[in-house]
Amino acid sequence: MRYQQNLAWSVLLRLFHWSFALSVVVLVTTGFYIHFPWTNTMLEGGRSFPVATMFYIHFIAAFVFTAALLARLYLLLFGNRQERFWDFLPITPKNIVNLFKTIANYLYISDKYDRRLGHNTLAGIFYLVTFILGLVQVLSGFYMLYPENVVWQTWGLRLLGPMQQARYLHYLIMWYFIFFAFVHLYIVVWSDIWHKEGLISSIVNGRKYTPDKS
Ligand code: HEM
Ligand code: HEM
Repeated sequence: MRYQQNLAWSVLLRLFHWSFALSVVVLVTTGFYIHFPWTNTMLEGGRSFPVATMFYIHFIAAFVFTAALLARLYLLLFGNRQERFWDFLPITPKNIVNLFKTIANYLYISDKYDRRLGHNTLAGIFYLVTFILGLVQVLSGFYMLYPENVVWQTWGLRLLGPMQQARYLHYLIMWYFIFFAFVHLYIVVWSDIWHKEGLISSIVNGRKYTPDKS
């Protein structure tokens, strides 16, 4: 079969993806450690400060995460056709049909896959949830990092309540990111094998393949 190659993802989206993915791995690892320092903390009295080091790495990754998220929010409105939010949310009749067809295909009820250049609607819904929870991590994170800053303090308190509550929410959302990363990896590998559109390489070189009907 002959295939056509089409550009799906801009350079900025691919940069977003890889800085977001890498920063999440670092944030989850260091966050887990901050919550539960599993190595022997007797070391704290010595010359090494593992918790402080983990905090430092967490904050560096947090700035990368925040920058990536801001770039993605820009692309939701001003990116190419596939990157704008109305392309992948169930807000048009075409996208709603795509949602049901995708669910049927993922559950092996139907072997027809509704091909499109951008994300399918089911993936799109989860990506949007991920961006929103990412924003909650940024708000709760900066609220805890700069408790003396009036802006973070006011909005943190207004939207998330007392700091201890924000901290608990920040911790709980870590579990969403762990869950998302594993399910995401499973689905992209599964989809790459079944749908033969070069999905995984598309997030590196930006291009997807569709069967050439000519
Ligand atoms: C996916 C993104 C992130 C994950 C999974 C994550 C995870 C965590 C976890 C699990 C903790 C330990 C909470 C606890 O003690 O129970 C933590 C602490 C912390 N995180 Fe994050 N984090 C993320 C993003 C951010 C961002 C964007 C910032 C912004 C600066 C941030 C700032 C902080 C701060 C300041 C603490 C220390 C809280 C304290 O004083 O105990 N985090 N993070
Ligand atoms: C080696 C690991 C990874 C690979 C191979 C990979 C691959 C992909 C692929 C192929 C897509 C496009 C899928 C589609 O069209 O629906 C995608 C999208 C996405 N991935 Fe990953 N991914 C990886 C790790 C991660 C991690 C760790 C995260 C964060 C927890 C993540 C977050 C996302 C997000 C948010 C999108 C949506 C892109 C957008 O439109 O903004 N990925 N990934």
